[in-house]
Amino acid sequence: EKGGYDYFMLKEIVEQPKSVADTLLGRVGVDGTLTLDEMRLAPSDLRDIEKIVIIACGTSYHAGLIAKYAIEHWCRIPCEVEVASEFRYRDPILNRQTLVIAISQSGESMDTLMAVRYAREQQARVLAICNVNGSTIPRESDGVLYTHAGPEVGVAATKTFLTQLIACYLIGLYLAQVRGLKFGDEINAVIAQLANMPEQVERVLATVEPVRNLARTLSDASTVLFLGRHVGYPVALEGALKLKELAYMHAEAFAAGELKHGPIALIEKDLPVVVVVPSREGRSVLHDKIVSNIQEIRARGARTIVIAEEGDETVRPFSDELIEVPAVPTLLQPIVATVPLQVFACELALAKGNDVDQPRNLAKSVTVE
Ligand code: M6R
Repeated sequence: EKGGYDYFMLKEIVEQPKSVADTLLGRVGVDGTLTLDEMRLAPSDLRDIEKIVIIACGTSYHAGLIAKYAIEHWCRIPCEVEVASEFRYRDPILNRQTLVIAISQSGESMDTLMAVRYAREQQARVLAICNVNGSTIPRESDGVLYTHAGPEVGVAATKTFLTQLIACYLIGLYLAQVRGLKFGDEINAVIAQLANMPEQVERVLATVEPVRNLARTLSDASTVLFLGRHVGYPVALEGALKLKELAYMHAEAFAAGELKHGPIALIEKDLPVVVVVPSREGRSVLHDKIVSNIQEIRARGARTIVIAEEGDETVRPFSDELIEVPAVPTLLQPIVATVPLQVFACELALAKGNDVDQPRNLAKSVTVE
């Protein structure tokens, strides 16, 4: 059942184009109209929403961080993201006009479940994004959007992360539609691009062999840093989490703009630094800023591993390793930029002899607080 692979994780990484297609299936009409039936929240309810709060743990939290960029940009609704374990202990402000989005692959994470219960007690409406049909979190929520990624056996979330992102995009775009298309053309263009995502992920997978080779050379590194900006920042966080849980290595992610506020002191000769470069479309200022960050760290001797969109020649002179991903709209870039980081962590862990399906000390679903 591992489909010829030694580990479920390898199979699940390769399955991602199909998983992404399955999340989209039946939800995007030919004219771009979105149908999210199981959401069970009426358009009139969604028009009243004044604030969105996303709660989740681990990788699902990273999906939530990316969703914030998309939802605030497309819908102009204030959106907060919080790790579920912190949420109910700080007296958060919730009411009937708050939409809480709980993201959980398993639907069983106790931290997220307790946050959902708390939010409902405070009269907020709760929408779950979940992969496991009939699990507890969707049963206790007002509505649900299933990711339909199929069972994920590897402890590390891979295909479920990509499909959570798709679900978040669908919700953001749907909210924008029901609330009256502020950026109609952009929304329609993104909806059209979503349909290409399975193919784009396929293209990334076809070119990851150099990432595998690179990962094998780094198994003795004591730490790996990850930098990103905009939606590339949560991608960097996700790359670092994968490395910790699979390769048992110290890894840390920073928003690239924070570098000069402290972390740059860590940069030394040969330190591997992975940089997720935002796509140039609509964000060229950010792009230029991150290119100067890459120059700064390279000037201090770091080994720069750069993930950038195809054809981005500006980064090449400063990249010790350049990993190219297809050019897609900025907000969708995490779909393609995350895949090389999954492969990187998986291969590095395998090079160290670790069991990537069942990393030490971890469980697939965390059912205690
Ligand atoms: O099932 P959930 O999405 O609620 O799980 C949340 C985290 O425990 C989970 O994403 C964890 O961080 C993964 N092992 C990461 O790969």
